Amino acid sequence: MGKVLVCYFSQSGNTEAFAKNIAAKLQEDGREFDMFKIEPTIPYPDDYDMCLAKAMEDRAMQERPEYNGDVDVSQYETIFFGYPIWCSDFPMIVYNFLEKHSFTGIKFYPFCTHGGSGEAGTFTAIGNLAVGALRKEGLAIEGKLATQDGGKKQADYWVGQAEI
Ligand SMILES: Cc1cc2nc3c(=O)[nH]c(=O)nc-3n(C[C@H](O)[C@H](O)[C@H](O)COP(=O)(O)O)c2cc1C
Repeated sequence: MGKVLVCYFSQSGNTEAFAKNIAAKLQEDGREFDMFKIEPTIPYPDDYDMCLAKAMEDRAMQERPEYNGDVDVSQYETIFFGYPIWCSDFPMIVYNFLEKHSFTGIKFYPFCTHGGSGEAGTFTAIGNLAVGALRKEGLAIEGKLATQDGGKKQADYWVGQAEI
């Protein structure tokens, strides 16, 4: 069985909660996996309005915010990759991560949490950004649901049907 990575960015914890649900399911299934959290070198503000202002500035300037450490994605056969929707798009730090790596031949399952907009076209876009990835069906879940029982059920189902 190939190695599995659960990789995500999460500002306020919703995407992280879903990532942990994925990890719990992998654990239950007796799968070996690693986790990598994309943590900004300069943290985003906790305050929503300030965070939104920074996110919009990042987008306007086409910034690629740096993150702490890194992971060699080439050692994995499958990646579950998560992020929150920001301004109907990926946070710019996610662009940075995706652009820095090559995903050739890796089964790539995107997931996102959002506040109502759904995946906002990011599942299609990620097919181009994650160079070489074998993009698989994504999962979008509203942020507040990701942290509840329903989030665990969705993760169980989604991971259960994944070709890993
Ligand atoms: C800067 C910013 C921009 C956001 N833009 C959107 C958006 O365009 N559409 C949407 O549905 N939710 C939007 N949200 C809500 C988040 O996608 C949602 O709360 C998500 O679950 C947060 O995930 P996290 O807790 O892992 O950071 C935005 C949140 C922030 C902080």
